[in-house]
Amino acid sequence: MDTKRIQINDINDIHNEELMEAAQIIREGGLVAFRTETVYGLGANALNEEAAKKIYAAKGRPSDNPLIAHISCMEELTPLVAEIPEAGRRLAEAYWPGPLTMVFPKSAIVPYGTTGGLDTVAVRMPSDPVANRLIALAGVPIAAPSANTSGRPSPTTADHVWQDMNGKIEMIIDGGPVGIGVESTIVDVSGPVVTLLRPGAVTMEMLEETVGHVEIDPAIQGPPKADVKPKAPGMKYRHYAPKADLTLVEGMTADVTEKINRLVRERQAEGLKVGVICTEETRDAYPAGIVRCIGSRKHEETIAHNLFAVLREFDDLQVDAIYSESFSRDHLGQAIMNRLTKAAGYHMIQAQDQV
Ligand code: TXA
Ligand code: MG
Repeated sequence: MDTKRIQINDINDIHNEELMEAAQIIREGGLVAFRTETVYGLGANALNEEAAKKIYAAKGRPSDNPLIAHISCMEELTPLVAEIPEAGRRLAEAYWPGPLTMVFPKSAIVPYGTTGGLDTVAVRMPSDPVANRLIALAGVPIAAPSANTSGRPSPTTADHVWQDMNGKIEMIIDGGPVGIGVESTIVDVSGPVVTLLRPGAVTMEMLEETVGHVEIDPAIQGPPKADVKPKAPGMKYRHYAPKADLTLVEGMTADVTEKINRLVRERQAEGLKVGVICTEETRDAYPAGIVRCIGSRKHEETIAHNLFAVLREFDDLQVDAIYSESFSRDHLGQAIMNRLTKAAGYHMIQAQDQV
């Protein structure tokens, strides 16, 4: 299949014919990748089971992993859900459109092919203007997982999508780099307690400010355990994995840089190609290895923004091992550390430990 790539940088500049063509592809059961404020999504008609199957095929994704249905306005929520619980209403008011996905009891029109067989449906209203326009023009909710090959880091530029999806989908809308860089926060509002299933840019602190106490699904706190079934089925897969072995190093800054430098020298002595993930604050502390700066600790949104791109860059450079500094788990740090620890297969070491 030839994948058509179109460019839309400014919403005021949108050639309606091109966006109309994208909407038409969606309506006819085809696949279009588009930018959202979090990561690029791979879109298909959420109400068409055959279209959902194509998403799984293009991504190489297990079909028990449900998809998020994207809507453009509140009126589009009602037909998809059996009920809008009070907490869902309040969170929608506070954070939609934006990087928040909510899990509701589903209505009959949402096919099990979209929800991975579940009786609930995950819904998000993106704030990205092009995404919003595309959904409105399509006239159907758009199921959109991140537009990466399953297991690879999520795409934050159209080039990342091109690497993974060229030849497999009808169209890529290049809207430039995304803003946030990590996927949306997911909360389950279908039960008696609001539960966080995946941390994102709408932080725990922000959720609790709006609805009071929020539970955290135990599955997002650490490595998968045989007896703990994640409520978001996708969280059980080793997502975001770079090809190299990634190790996170925790501790006081001076200890961390020293430890990483020692490990880099050891791996290099073994003949390996080694990468380092550092921050603006520490970039001068690493004399050796292939060093990439992920952002500034003072502005953690820069770290979220660059995270997946840095992991992909190390894939392209074909490094064998990556050592990364680690981050605080407060606010946006919870999402950053969730993605990084998963990418590392939960391999973390303390800087003070003896090797
Ligand atoms: O930011 C995002 O959410 C991006 C952009 C494109 O909108 N999309 C995204 O989709 O990250 P995906 O498919 O990569 O991740 C969706 C996650 C999976 O972990 C899946 O298991 C969970 O949402 N999910 C979907 N439906 C669910 C449901 N009914 N109950 C619980 N978890 C659900
Ligand atoms: Mg994904």
